[in-house]
Amino acid sequence: MGGQVLRLQDVTVRRDGAVLLRDIDWAVHEDERWVVVGPNGAGKTTLLQVVGAMLFPSEGSVEILGERLGQTDVFELRPRIGLASAALAEKVPPEEKVIDLVLTGSYAILGRWTEEYDSNDVTRAVELIDQFGCAPLIRRQFGTLSEGERKRVQIARALMPDPELLLLDEPAAGLDMGGREDLVRRLSSFAYDPKAPTMVLVTHHVEEVPSGFTHVMLLRHGSVVAQGPINRVMTAENLSHTFGVPLNLERGRDGRWYARAHQF
Ligand SMILES: Nc1ncnc2c1ncn2[C@@H]1O[C@H](COP(=O)(O)OP(=O)(O)O)[C@@H](O)[C@H]1O
Ligand SMILES: [Mg+2]
Repeated sequence: MGGQVLRLQDVTVRRDGAVLLRDIDWAVHEDERWVVVGPNGAGKTTLLQVVGAMLFPSEGSVEILGERLGQTDVFELRPRIGLASAALAEKVPPEEKVIDLVLTGSYAILGRWTEEYDSNDVTRAVELIDQFGCAPLIRRQFGTLSEGERKRVQIARALMPDPELLLLDEPAAGLDMGGREDLVRRLSSFAYDPKAPTMVLVTHHVEEVPSGFTHVMLLRHGSVVAQGPINRVMTAENLSHTFGVPLNLERGRDGRWYARAHQF
């Protein structure tokens, strides 16, 4: 077990009278890869915002990479965290070039203006773009990419500052079958890479959980149903409680999961 990357104690998030997260306790260590699984509205995105130092909880304590939220400068903390989400992708100007989008990831800004990049930055950006299968797209404008290409470019951008923690919010949402399988396979080999950062991936489809992910948190109505090592916690019973429907769960020989509703 590596060093502690996240530590949440009794974290509650309220907004406009609604409880979005309730009494969350969570510890994430360096060498772990977590998936957070739950239905729409369970609080998954809210949880990622908290651990991405974008949202303060109403109650409880949050430690991220050894820094306590509320007692640390979040502007120093955020560059140590890579985040890819649909909400961020919507803010990308359509004419932004792929290479510029990834390069500006080092500064957590959008739009290339007058920054000077050193050649190490450019080399790293090209390597990341290549690692996620986007080398032929390097000069293309973001707005001209397919949904799958956009997702992969976004992950390359999130990795640009060499973050210690990588947060992925529904990375496979909106992809067709080929795009999903390609992305899940890339995330799987990334998960097995011991040099990769600690990862937290959010999804509402167990089919999108890449093999190589080691732990799971199951969320329903802002509360934890179960959490821990994926082999122990990802069960039909736990998933059925999480989604509120009786589910059968199977695991393929490739380590991927498949859930189906019981025949009624
Ligand atoms: N500003 C807000 N005020 C009240 N409720 C909100 C607000 N933002 C989100 N919610 C609600 O909080 C719940 C959790 O949202 P979210 O974290 O986005 O869930 P998930 O990502 O699991 O789908 C949802 O029911 C959503 O409607
Ligand atoms: Mg969400």
